[in-house]
Amino acid sequence: MVVSHGHYTKTQFVAAKIEDDEEEKFLTQECKELLLSLPRQKGWRTPYLYEFQGFWCQPKEIQAILSFQNHFISQESDVILATIPKSGTTWLKGLVFSIMNRKRFDVIDSKAHPLLHSNPHDLVPFFDQIPDLSKLPDPRLFATHIPFNSLMLQESIKNASPKIVYLCRNPLDTFISSWHFVNNLRPKSLPPFEIEEAFKMYCDGIIGFGPFWKHMLGYWNESLKHPNGVLLLKYEEMREDTVSNLKELAKFLGCPFSVEEEKEGVIKEIAKLCSFDKMKNLEVNKSGKSIKNFENKHLFRKGEVGDWVNYLSPSMVEQLSQIMEEKLDGSGLTFKLFS
Ligand code: A3P
Repeated sequence: MVVSHGHYTKTQFVAAKIEDDEEEKFLTQECKELLLSLPRQKGWRTPYLYEFQGFWCQPKEIQAILSFQNHFISQESDVILATIPKSGTTWLKGLVFSIMNRKRFDVIDSKAHPLLHSNPHDLVPFFDQIPDLSKLPDPRLFATHIPFNSLMLQESIKNASPKIVYLCRNPLDTFISSWHFVNNLRPKSLPPFEIEEAFKMYCDGIIGFGPFWKHMLGYWNESLKHPNGVLLLKYEEMREDTVSNLKELAKFLGCPFSVEEEKEGVIKEIAKLCSFDKMKNLEVNKSGKSIKNFENKHLFRKGEVGDWVNYLSPSMVEQLSQIMEEKLDGSGLTFKLFS
């Protein structure tokens, strides 16, 4: 039975139906049948989000999770970068790619560095974008938004225990970043997405791969239980002190920076190469397209901590703060809200 609580006007419904039909073309029969059995709510970017394995996902994401869970074969040397969207995925991809490939691609004399002409999404694929696994150099580097529990339903990941880096960001900024992003990408057939409506959905946990608190807690709790397996980083701390975080990251990945590298300025160069201003102004990121359906320029907006003050009303701040307090209570997971 399909339970629908999302309400559309007639025009929105027609537009949503067209989008739905477009999406459906690419779904397998297995996925289509599964969708019929899942609770659904009006989506941010697609007509509906479906509740799958405890999280709200787009149909194509559910299909990707199914395919990943059924077919992926993990290796012990794999590295997985996990985030909830708009937490700094692009940045993390650039940083980890640079760290892991620094012997192949010099960052001091970096004129030919791949990050100067490729967007990080071209260099570090999401699980669901992988055309041919055999072409990836070892150790393989992947990214995902899949929640921890769904990741662990994958047999080979459970057995191989690859290293996982999870980057999270304070929910107020993540919400504002998501809202801007969706408004930039929303099909022209749909009206602009009002902040009040988006905010209510976010607080109810209804956003891609939400509820955000459940996504964060899955990885956070695992990082406490198995610190050698999961490293949790925070966007705000990375912004404040990129170099210290890069050192921790390299150590966790099993390729710590040597004293010589530190003296030569390798760590600072990686931070510079992947900095917001540097990346935003590269030609590939101003005019390129790396992920289906949107242009790279939408991935680089402000890159600030605390931009939410420009958009959220005092009552919204109070409401979201209360949700964070309640949902994250006792977990030890806290966030800096200002720079
Ligand atoms: P804002 O919208 O707040 O500016 P994701 O990569 O997960 O989609 O996250 C996007 C957010 O990360 C955006 O936040 C974007 O501007 C910011 N971002 C992108 N590249 C960055 C970088 N190199 N350093 C810091 N933040 C970056």
